[in-house]
Amino acid sequence: MTVAPRTASAHIDAPEGLIPDALSPVIDALCKVGIDLSRTIARGPLGGALGAEVGENTDGDHQKALDVMANDAFAAALKGTGVRWYASEEQDSVVALDEGGSLALAIDPLDGSSNIDVNVSIGTIFSILPAEDEAEPSFLRPGRDQIAAGYIVYGPHTGLIVTFGAGVREFVLDRDKERFVPVEDAVSVPREAKEFSINASNMRHWRKPVLDYVQECLAGETGALGVNCNMRWVGSLVAEAHRILARGGIFLYPGDARPGYETGRLRMVYECAPMAMLIEQAGGEATTGTERVLDVVPDRLHARVPLIFGSAAMVERLRACHARDGAPA
Ligand code: AHG
Ligand code: MN
Ligand code: MN
Repeated sequence: MTVAPRTASAHIDAPEGLIPDALSPVIDALCKVGIDLSRTIARGPLGGALGAEVGENTDGDHQKALDVMANDAFAAALKGTGVRWYASEEQDSVVALDEGGSLALAIDPLDGSSNIDVNVSIGTIFSILPAEDEAEPSFLRPGRDQIAAGYIVYGPHTGLIVTFGAGVREFVLDRDKERFVPVEDAVSVPREAKEFSINASNMRHWRKPVLDYVQECLAGETGALGVNCNMRWVGSLVAEAHRILARGGIFLYPGDARPGYETGRLRMVYECAPMAMLIEQAGGEATTGTERVLDVVPDRLHARVPLIFGSAAMVERLRACHARDGAPA
C-alpha cells in the first residue's frame, strides 16, 4: 500500500520549511484559485466570454469578465487564511477580510487582460506584507517591507514563481495531481543579456534617457554596446517577467509625456513592488531609472511607478543614461 506523503497544503508540494507557517493557508488559497483559473482559461471561448468588457476600474482601465471573476475568487478564497487587509487592482479601496489576521495582501488578480482573447500568457501577481492596524498604511510603505511576493503565469503550462525573501522558487502545475510541484529551487537572472522589452509605439513620448538607452540597443554592434540585441513585447507583465527570469533581458515601462503616464502605467502596490522583489531575489535589478523600486513609498493605493527591471548589467546601463541626462524616468 502506498502512503501519500504528508503535506501541509492541499494544492502545492512545497519543500519543508519553505513557506512560513503564517503564510501557508494564504499560499494554498492562491494556488487553489490559480488552479481553478488555469482550467477556466484553458477552455478559452468554451469557458464563456472571458474577455468581454464588463465595466471600468478605479484607474479607468476596462474591466474584463475574467478580471472580475478572478478578483471575486481570490477575495472569497482568502477569507479565513489570516489576511486582514485585501487590496486589489479591481477594487477602489482596501477590503477588510479577517479581523484578527496579521497579513496584508495586494493582488493584480488578472494581469495582461488585453491578451485574454488572443490565447497569450496572462497571470496573477501578489504581494504579502505585515498588516498594520489601519487599512491603507498597510500598503503605503516601501516594497522592501514585503514578506513574500510572486505570480502565477497561465501559459502553455501554468507556473508559480514565489519568494519569501531568501531566493526565488519555481513550481509548475501538475494537471494530473492538481498541485503545484517544485521544478527550480534557485531561479536566477543572468547578469548579461541582449533582449529588451518596451512598447515602442510610445517612442515619441519617451524622455531622453529612455530614448538614448533604446537607441543604444537598436544600434547593436554598430553602437556603444557592440552587440546586436533582440526585442520582445508581449503586453503581459507576468509573461515578460517570466521570460526575463528564464533567460535574462530588460523590461521597461517608463514614465512618458502622455497625460496620465507621467510615472508610467504599472501600479506600485500590486505590480511593481512584487516584481521588483522577485527580480532582486533572483539577482537582477529593478529601478525607476533613478531610484530602487523597493525604496519607493506609494502615496496612494493605485499609484503608478516607472518600472525597469531585469539583468543587472542591462539595468546598470539604463541607470547610466539617466545619470548622464539628469532627467526623470
Ligand atoms: P492589467 O491587465 O493588469 O491592467 O496590466 C496590463 C499591463 C501589463 O501587463 C503590461 O505590461 C502593460 O499593461 C501593457 O501596457 P500597454 O498596453 O500600454 O503596452
Ligand atoms: Mn497588471
Ligand atoms: Mn489586472
